[in-house]
Amino acid sequence: MATNDQLLLYLKKNQGNWVSSELISNNLSVSRSAIGKHIGKLKKEGYVIESSPKKGYLFSEASDPITADEIKEGLCTKVCGKQNIIYLKETDSTNTRAKELAAHGASEGTLVIAEKQTNGRGRRGRSWFSPPGDGIYFSLILRPAISPNETPRITLMTAVVLAETLISLMKLKLRIKWPNDILVNEKKLAGILTEISTEMDAVNYIVVGLGLNVNTLFENSSQEIKKSATSILIETGNRTSRVKLIQKFLKLYEQYYDMFKKNNFEPIMNRWRQLADIIGKQIKVDVVGETHIGEVVDVDNDGVLILKDDQGKLQRIFSGDVTLARQLK
Ligand code: BTN
Repeated sequence: MATNDQLLLYLKKNQGNWVSSELISNNLSVSRSAIGKHIGKLKKEGYVIESSPKKGYLFSEASDPITADEIKEGLCTKVCGKQNIIYLKETDSTNTRAKELAAHGASEGTLVIAEKQTNGRGRRGRSWFSPPGDGIYFSLILRPAISPNETPRITLMTAVVLAETLISLMKLKLRIKWPNDILVNEKKLAGILTEISTEMDAVNYIVVGLGLNVNTLFENSSQEIKKSATSILIETGNRTSRVKLIQKFLKLYEQYYDMFKKNNFEPIMNRWRQLADIIGKQIKVDVVGETHIGEVVDVDNDGVLILKDDQGKLQRIFSGDVTLARQLK
């Protein structure tokens, strides 16, 4: 095992306790100056390690780096994140990186994850606030044997898996906002951006990008974001381990993806309908340049919103921004 890994293991075993450099040096048979260098490297990777000339080193409970090694350790999936995790300390957008990798043949289940995005992208040309340290920004490459018109199902499924992950880990009272935002107390906690490459009537690859505000406090964000966004920390008052959350999500994702590949989409969609709680509601939908008002009759298995206007006429809406009627007052 490399010295860096040995040191990390040693510090983790003593998490929360100070360990002197003399003790580390004796246990790992490395010089004290080498320890200092390795500690520096670990800090750069995102580990929080306090140093004191008298007491030595303290591996803090706040250490939560999302490196490939950390995610892989204890990850029990066969495909998602199993073979390939690409960790980037900083990138423009994990979706952009993942699309490049996919175009060069990256395998299904490849995960591209970043500590910080400088150009995190959202739906409809929006940006995604992606400061370092507190959020989760990743993109998963999938290569399902489906036709392009079935791909919205992947986004619906992703929203369900993320919702189930958050419910099971921290009992969050959330709802899915059509088509795929996760809201808590009507503020946005997470978003999904799915991008696809197709050829004739087949899918080459799908990149599922997910942004989740975990321990984010939005101190350096715009007023607009402060008003409309929330995080797990804000909602629960507790810091969450990003690594554990990612591992749980990937495990559940694989289970749902297997169901999806076996053509068993109906239960997933039913759960989506339950979590979205939109059917029968009066809404306003803004589609580029147009506004539709009416009652939601259904969201079909392809994620199309079926709206009945006050004349009783049905409309099929493929994408847009929904506002519930009770929020319009
Ligand atoms: C939205 O709600 O509009 C979708 C937001 C998706 C953000 C994620 S963060 C990781 C991935 N990379 C990006 O550039 N966007 C997605």
